[in-house]
This record gives sequence, structure tokens and C-alpha cells, in this order.
Amino acid sequence: MATESPATRRVQVAEHPRLLKLKEMFNSKFGSIPKFYVRAPGRVNIIGEHIDYCGYSVLPMAVEQDVLIAVEPVKTYTLQLANTNPLYPDFSTSANNIQIDKTKPLWHNYFLCGVKGIQEHFGLSNLTGMNCLVDGNIPPSSGLSSSSALVCCAGLVTLTALGRNLSKVELAEICAKSERYIGTEGGGMDQSISFLAEEGTAKLIEFSPLRATDVKLPSGAVFVIANSCVEMNKAATSHFNIRVMECRLAAKLLAKYKSLQWDKVLRLEEVQAKLGISLEEMLLVTEDALHPEPYNPEEICRCLGISLEELRTQILSPNTEDVLIFKLYQRAKHVYSEAARVLQFKKICEEAPEDMVQLLGELMNQSHMSCRDMYECSCPELDQLVDICRKFGAQGSRLTGAGWGGCTVSIVPADKLPSFLANVHKAYYQRSDGSLAPEKQSLSATKPGDDGL
Ligand code: GLA
Repeated sequence: MATESPATRRVQVAEHPRLLKLKEMFNSKFGSIPKFYVRAPGRVNIIGEHIDYCGYSVLPMAVEQDVLIAVEPVKTYTLQLANTNPLYPDFSTSANNIQIDKTKPLWHNYFLCGVKGIQEHFGLSNLTGMNCLVDGNIPPSSGLSSSSALVCCAGLVTLTALGRNLSKVELAEICAKSERYIGTEGGGMDQSISFLAEEGTAKLIEFSPLRATDVKLPSGAVFVIANSCVEMNKAATSHFNIRVMECRLAAKLLAKYKSLQWDKVLRLEEVQAKLGISLEEMLLVTEDALHPEPYNPEEICRCLGISLEELRTQILSPNTEDVLIFKLYQRAKHVYSEAARVLQFKKICEEAPEDMVQLLGELMNQSHMSCRDMYECSCPELDQLVDICRKFGAQGSRLTGAGWGGCTVSIVPADKLPSFLANVHKAYYQRSDGSLAPEKQSLSATKPGDDGL
């Protein structure tokens, strides 16, 4: 699998209404016919939140919602981008001078991240131009990875236009790295599952080296994704990067406490690996080494023996330099316990005991509590939605993705699905007069895989 390239196939555009519509829109926009189409899916993370950038394995699956791009390579050196969604304006730039503006997470910047990743990988200074029409149906800022799907799709578009080849693993690594041009310090989960997902299975994604293993989910249960309808764009705020930095600082303080070479350590997983102990033991070390009261920058500098200037310029990211409070104990506790829950989840899926759905549900509930209380990446609407889902039959329910808004994922016994959907709809999405709250329109049951053309 490590060397496998993304699949290509010939399709009759006329047989796929979405492709046909895209082709017609492309024609009216650019006055020509696309040469090829590329597709990359969004994802739902079942368990393992905010731990990929700490080096730990996660357990997502792809969803049918995706980004689809119609492409025509052109002889000029111009990249012309358009989107079927009128909210996203056209954009055009020279393909040889790609600038990504970190201060504004505009849609085309995600596309440019994908292009730049491939361009840099092959060390190309001259890229041919392309006309591209993008069509995405992953709800934006909903925790289902619409932005990474766009980066991945754009990376694959560029690779295909160049007539080059890369494996899915290489593509995932390139796109994970290049999405950071937008300014967020994400891990590699979203890009990995977008390339490595397969129909009918969730995946355990492990890092360094990147690999994906099938995880067979219980057949008697359905995973339901429900949108809290609170939008959270992780590149528009510093919440996300603050968490990444808190984990980085926690890793350094833990390493220092254990007399390891702390200045080289960036991730909480490295501390565990260097100590060669279990996750449970890491939780005990965290309790000994860190205190629950928040740290201020001065205390961190004292612990590490560095200056404030060194902390700002050598450890923190540009948008976290001025943060005054870091909760290191809580973040490390979340990461080590969540990493353990992922492994337990996978083990239960493998062993398939009779009460499997209940056990998996309990792990998902614990994950949500930890995200809410220790990682503080939930919000009142997500908590309310999780409670409603549990009340109406979910064995477990949790926020999915970065959090602070976006979606929940719940495990629901298949026989309870119709009543679950009706009740959650009524309790969260409907106003008291019975009408649908316009800002709340999203609930979908999903199974792994599915072709969204
Ligand atoms: C975002 C990031 C991922 C991951 C999740 C939280 O989706 O892009 O890398 O960190 O948040 O689990």
C-alpha cells in the first residue's frame, strides 16, 4: 500500500450528473472542455482528537462529501481558479509566483497550498498554467476537513497536470506539510485519510512512518454525523495553534523533568518513546511533572532556562507569541489518555465482543469529556448536541475534528436509527413551532466509503 498511487478511471461524463454539470459550467466559464477531473473526500474522525500533531495514531474514515475539480492544463503560465459556489470568488495568479497569504484564510489559498507542495517537491520553478473549476460539498468549517480535501485535490490536480507520479503516502505527506503554509500547525490526519481511505472501512492512521491499517467497524451500528451549525475556521483564530504550542511546551517540560534533551523534543509522543514507558505511565509522569494551574510565559522560561525572546522566536508560532496563559497539565493529560483510547477502540473492533457497541460508545463519550474539560475545544452547542444524541439512543457521542464548533459523531445501534434521527432532528434542528431553524440543517448517517460522483 505504501507505494500505491491514487486510482484513475475512465468515466462517461454524461452518466454522472455532477460531472456533467461541472463540465457545462467549466465550458461557460473558460470556453473549453476539462481534460480531467480529480476528487478528494472529506473525513470524519471517529476517535483520536488533537493527537496527530503530537505524534499519536488516529482513527478516521472518509465521508462521501468531497471536493471535485475539473481541470484543463493550458500553455500560458496562468493559474485560473473558479468555484461553483458563488460565495467563493474567481482567482487568478501566475503559476510561477505562488504567494499564500497567511493573514486571510481565503478559499483559493488552500488550492495554492496543494500546488506549492507539489511544485516544491519536484523542485520546479516553471509550472504550466491550468484552468480549474472547483466543486465542493463538504460543509465548510464543520470539522469534516473541507480545507484539507481542497489542498489534497489541488495537489493531485497539479501532479496529474505535470504527468508525474507519486504514491498516496507521499502525496499525503506533501499535502500535510504544504497546508501549513496557511498558518495552522495541523497534524497529518486529514490529508492521510483523504488519500488512503478505502470503501467499507475506517483506518488507523499511524505516523513516522505514515501508514494506514483497516479497522472494521461493528456491523450492527451506524455512525451519525450531526452538524452543530456553529462554524469554526481553524485558520481564522489562534485556538488551534495555541493547543499545538501548549502540547509542544508540555513535551519540553516533561522531557526536562526526566532529564532528556528537551530542546530537540517537539511532540508528546517523543517523550514517551524516549522514556520507553506506557501511556498510562506517561499520565503518572504528567501528574508528577506538571501542575494543573496554568503556566505563564515567565514560569515556562524559568523551567526551561531560556529567555522570553527565545520562547517567542524559537518555540512559539507567529500567532501564539503573545499568549499569556498555557494549560500544560490539562493538554498533556488529554493527549496521553486520548492516545490510549484510540488503541483500545481498535482492539475492541478487532476482538468484537458482544457488547462491542456499548464499549466503543463509552470510549467516544470519554473522548468528548476529555476534549470538553481538559482540552477545552468544545462549545455549548456541541455539548448540547452530544447530550441530545445520547438521550435519543447513541451509545456514544463526541465532537469530531478540531472542535470549537462543527460536527458531532455518534455511534447508534442500527435498529434505533430511524427514531434517533427523528428525535435529534426535533430536539436540535427544529424550532418550538415545528419549523426548521434555517441555520440548523444538517444531519447525516454515514457508512465508510461511498462514491460521491
Ligand atoms: C484538524 C487538523 C488535524 C487534527 C484535528 C484534530 O482537523 O487538521 O490535523 O489535528 O484538527 O484532531
